[in-house]
Amino acid sequence: MDSRVLRVISRLDRQSIIERNGKARIAPGQEMLAITADTGVFFSILLKAIKGKRVLEIGTSAGFSTLWFADAVGKKGKIMTIEEDPLKVERARDNFRQAGVDKLIVIKRGVALDVLRTVKGKFDFVLLDADKENIIKYFDLVLPLVRAGGIIAADNMLFPPHYRPMMKKYARHVRSKRDVQSVTVPIGMGEEITIKLP
Ligand SMILES: C[S@@+](CC[C@H](N)C(=O)[O-])C[C@H]1O[C@@H](n2cnc3c(N)ncnc32)[C@H](O)[C@@H]1O
Repeated sequence: MDSRVLRVISRLDRQSIIERNGKARIAPGQEMLAITADTGVFFSILLKAIKGKRVLEIGTSAGFSTLWFADAVGKKGKIMTIEEDPLKVERARDNFRQAGVDKLIVIKRGVALDVLRTVKGKFDFVLLDADKENIIKYFDLVLPLVRAGGIIAADNMLFPPHYRPMMKKYARHVRSKRDVQSVTVPIGMGEEITIKLP
């Protein structure tokens, strides 16, 4: 991994672990709520396996997951990430600059449903990691934007427990589609990995 990306990822990972252990006082709404580092490695492996270069992310926060994508797609990659919170957008922007990957990443500030309705193009990999109330709508909007053989990942399938009813509905919805294959992987907070079939 590039040393600048690694430095920022390591710093954010330490912050994230402190946050998860409840050992830091964080302003309400400013928690990172990031994927775990092993999930970052898992996504990186998936992206490399499918030779993915174009990533769409819903829910940027401080940019931890985005940095894993930036490292995996390399200099020819392109990442679009959506975040509604202006403070988090600034924090992510700063982290991307420090990691030297800001040129690869377009941050779309706004409400995900509004932004998604304007997004065009094809993506190799999508991460759904914003509010869970709209996750089925996000899936339906992004499915046409994913190339055959591309992947849609959804975080928090298993943890925290209060998301489970919504995530079960999501899994049922995804599995009702004919042109995808999907599985819940018990890594990190639980990842639904869905491949779009040709
Ligand atoms: C779980 S965090 C994302 C974590 C990030 N993917 C990572 O692993 O580092 C969810 C983020 O989605 C943002 N968010 C929640 N609902 C949103 C919406 N409707 N539109 C845009 N952003 C939203 C929140 O502000 C928060 O920063």
